[in-house]
Amino acid sequence: VGPSSGDELGWTLDRHILERQRRTPGASGDFTGLFQAIALAGRVIASKVAKAGLADVLGATGAVNVQGETVQKLDELANKILVRCVEAGGHVCVMASEEDETTIPVPPQYPQGKYVLMFDPLDGSSNIDVNVSIGTIFSIHRRVTASGPGTAQDCLQAGHKQVAAGYIIYGSSTMLVYTTGDGVHGFTLDPLVGEFFLSHENLRMPTRGNTYSINEGNRSKWTPGVTEWIDTLKSDKAPGGKPYGMRYVGSLVADFHRTLLRGGVFAYPGDRKAPEGKLRLLYECSPMAFIAEAAGGAASTGTQRVLDVEPTALHQRVPLFIGSKEDVADAERFVAKDA
Ligand code: AHG
Ligand code: MN
Ligand code: MN
Ligand code: MN
Repeated sequence: VGPSSGDELGWTLDRHILERQRRTPGASGDFTGLFQAIALAGRVIASKVAKAGLADVLGATGAVNVQGETVQKLDELANKILVRCVEAGGHVCVMASEEDETTIPVPPQYPQGKYVLMFDPLDGSSNIDVNVSIGTIFSIHRRVTASGPGTAQDCLQAGHKQVAAGYIIYGSSTMLVYTTGDGVHGFTLDPLVGEFFLSHENLRMPTRGNTYSINEGNRSKWTPGVTEWIDTLKSDKAPGGKPYGMRYVGSLVADFHRTLLRGGVFAYPGDRKAPEGKLRLLYECSPMAFIAEAAGGAASTGTQRVLDVEPTALHQRVPLFIGSKEDVADAERFVAKDA
């Protein structure tokens, strides 16, 4: 639900969520509360990012996370901010983060809620220190265990069961984009007011684009199918009869955001060294897939719809081909040759 044309003034994210709550029979306000906590965390992280070079948040912590990656100060800070903003609200029973090996419990002094929150607190770590767009990704499920503290079982749910998913992009402006499965909406942060205002209502992804987005430095490790696919996109045999352009930021949030608005395809394929690819299913691929489909796009592992993958581990990785429907279908056709 959104403003009628000319009535956009004052459509904050809070109002958007509240209107949704009013239309949902039996809604308790829990989802609204959780969303407000996430948006608050996003605003706090955005303010740190905006003055990163002055706020002593650049550089590495010296630690290595469960993924085997060097933890940046902002990875750690964003992780803390999210947990602190959400844990006390009584809306979630368990959380999971890229930066934590095991699930994050809700401290016993707070009520256990009915939702499960998983997130990539800071996406695009390699871009923090060079002032390039980074983001936060989140995925919300309903709990499946009956009561008490949530467990890993609550986290290991297929993506099509998501209640909501979204991301915040800390770009030239800060935006929050989310879906509950019916329509994708974008809100831009007015940094002086400190509020997200509706700026992109009901985003639709073009069914075909003219850019591809992939880390071409991995080419020597690609499978023949992926190599042939990209070679085709770079040639006159590309759909449309002329070569696609190439765009690659190296932050999934930024590469996906562009793909959502402009169409085209982003890929992090499995390769000969890493058959599962790099990106994590539960808090990177699955939420982005939920958004892509809700905007008329598609997301595939190359052989399967991302939202149908039954997760078996918290930090499981899957290959990702995401974007315009027809471009993702083409990718699947080429990947099938590798079988
Ligand atoms: P994160 O910073 O959360 O660990 O995620 C990094 C991911 C993702 O943002 C991006 O799409 C990808 O890594 C880039 O990987 P390459 O540097 O291998 O291209
Ligand atoms: Mn990381
Ligand atoms: Mn990430
Ligand atoms: Mn991250």
